[in-house]
Amino acid sequence: MILSTEKTALANTEFLEETLEGLKQEPKRMYSKYFYDETGDVIFQQIMNMEEYYLTNAEMEIMKHQANHIADVLSDNNAGFDLIELGAGDATKSIHLLKALIDKKLDFKYFPIDISEHVIAELEQSLPAELPALNFQGLIGDYFKMLKKETAISDRKKVVLFMGANIGNMDVQEAQTFCMGLKHLLSPNDILIIGFDLKKNPRKILEAYNDKAGITSSFNLNLLSRINRELDGDFDVNAFEHYASYNPENGACKSYLISLQNQTVNIGSEEFNFSKDEYILMEISQKYSKQEIEELANASGFKVVKYFTDEQHYFVDAVWKVA
Ligand code: AVI
Repeated sequence: MILSTEKTALANTEFLEETLEGLKQEPKRMYSKYFYDETGDVIFQQIMNMEEYYLTNAEMEIMKHQANHIADVLSDNNAGFDLIELGAGDATKSIHLLKALIDKKLDFKYFPIDISEHVIAELEQSLPAELPALNFQGLIGDYFKMLKKETAISDRKKVVLFMGANIGNMDVQEAQTFCMGLKHLLSPNDILIIGFDLKKNPRKILEAYNDKAGITSSFNLNLLSRINRELDGDFDVNAFEHYASYNPENGACKSYLISLQNQTVNIGSEEFNFSKDEYILMEISQKYSKQEIEELANASGFKVVKYFTDEQHYFVDAVWKVA
């Protein structure tokens, strides 16, 4: 068994290794999965409440108004199933689907997976109060390891939920590798419900990642502060500036930090030189057309069953079946 302190040490080693490896690349890059420390979690909550960040409301609208129809797709042949949510968070969106499934008296067990012990502990508190009839078991850890563990616990049909456009934080090639990895852990006719932010007016997308109040900027810069604190770094956070771009041709929305001067940054015993105007790639938020979603499904061993979109067609929760 790995103790909690050992887990933290392992996570820190990975954070250090990936940060150094990313900064040795040309051009330099960081990994947005490390945005989410305690402060990053708070800033991300603020982002989700921003006027400009349409994604959360769009997916919430789908879940609130169409959970019943999604539940109908899942009630296909009345077979019992396991509903496994990757990165469950506080389940504010998925709770609508859970309610609909309970109302339809479907035989299912909910397995929220999250890397954060804290998130699962909170769900263990809140879910029984909100949905007393819900049968659930939280799993703490890496998505693939926990999904594998779940498939060992139960051999029922699987429905995997991966919402929030988290797939967009991978480039298209990484997304395909990720979906193929899921497919390998699933069986024919198992289901994946996956959220994508759709291509739309480029200005609308850019504004979501370049808000006027500078919240997204502080989200990016917070990673430099985290490196300073946890990895013995000495970034001057004021010497970098957030820059967001969206390319409507390939759907890639990218965030960068631009060095405002020639400068040297130390992380432990390693030294990194930045020239004025040099950029660090911080995050990709890939946008898709429906055709590209279908191509991704087919290339990774799934077929599209149905799309659920919001009224404005900003967002889609796609239902895929293992081919
Ligand atoms: C978590 N993820 C889907 C968000 C996104 O839209 O790419 C993270 C984010 N980054 C800046 N704003 C929101």
